[in-house]
Amino acid sequence: KANLKNTLLEMNKLAARYFYSQLKGKNGEHAYRYLTDRGLTDTTITQFGLGYSNKYSDDLYKFLREKGYSDDLIRQAGLINTDEKHGIYDKFWNRVMFPIMDANNRVIGFGGRVMGDGKPKYLNSPETLIFDKSRNLYGLHRARTSRKPYFLICEGYMDVISLHQAGFTNAVASLGTALTAGHASLIKRYVSEVYLTYDSDEAGTKAALRAVPILKEAGISAKVIRMDPYKDPDEFIKNLGAEAFEQRIGKARNGFMFSLEILERQYDMHTPEGKTEFYYEAAKRLAQFEEEIERNNYIDAVAEAYHIGYDSLRKLVAKAAVQSG
Ligand code: CTP
Ligand code: MN
Ligand code: MN
Ligand code: MN
Ligand code: MN
Repeated sequence: KANLKNTLLEMNKLAARYFYSQLKGKNGEHAYRYLTDRGLTDTTITQFGLGYSNKYSDDLYKFLREKGYSDDLIRQAGLINTDEKHGIYDKFWNRVMFPIMDANNRVIGFGGRVMGDGKPKYLNSPETLIFDKSRNLYGLHRARTSRKPYFLICEGYMDVISLHQAGFTNAVASLGTALTAGHASLIKRYVSEVYLTYDSDEAGTKAALRAVPILKEAGISAKVIRMDPYKDPDEFIKNLGAEAFEQRIGKARNGFMFSLEILERQYDMHTPEGKTEFYYEAAKRLAQFEEEIERNNYIDAVAEAYHIGYDSLRKLVAKAAVQSG
């Protein structure tokens, strides 16, 4: 089994080199331009080993066969598909390619983006013996050596790459999936603090809300950075630059306070009933802080932010604590 893993890693490495050479060759001019039009420099392209899966539908397959790998192995690496009508063909076709590296710089899978509006926008390697999406983070191989005591966690490949290019070399992304406990324990090996910099849409907000408790559970404190009026870090940086992003880091919101802000939107804060319901729910959440000092500090912060008397909020929290047992 160790042997099979090594073989799959070898094949992925060969595939990454193949995609890279295609990007740099005649066939790849269009793809290369796609990446530079999106603001990536040649250095960045090389650092992240970006590539191009060309318009031939079985050339990577043939290339790997010539290297001596069997159909079965190439399939186990997730690099080909088979169907009755077309036989065997390359999984990735006419896409710019993002090799996914583990913390030790080994290529464990790929993401491929269409150059335009085709669907799906990104196609990713399937989970394989060497590729577990919930235990790897895109960009970690570079972020792990950044000297910052925290990671920036974003959604996408291009976000990570743009951030690194702008000097934020501590950026990583979960691979098109929600952040899991597996990701959190991986992060905890390197840092105890993260800044969530997800997309500005509803999905991004929800993803941030879900990530906060998962991170807390692993002993990681989370802050949330907003990217509005832009969609995501890539677009933010492109429009406002690195300094403005740095300022957003400075203005990051504590994860818990952020979750209350989102919660508040569900209540009509102009009515006494709405306000009261919101305070009860906030108290319920405050009651979940087990450490007294931490709980009191948050009660302080919430009382101040929402103009509630500290003592009445403290009583409400004590009541909520009793009710939840
Ligand atoms: N994703 C995916 N499959 C899709 C769409 C998205 O795997 N069909 C993952 C990718 O890792 C992607 C991330 O989710 O990078 C975030 O998705 P989205 O915000 O839609 O894409 P962007 O990263 O912003 O891509 P781009 O800037 O290239 O449009
Ligand atoms: Mn091909
Ligand atoms: Mn998104
Ligand atoms: Mn996005
Ligand atoms: Mn984007």
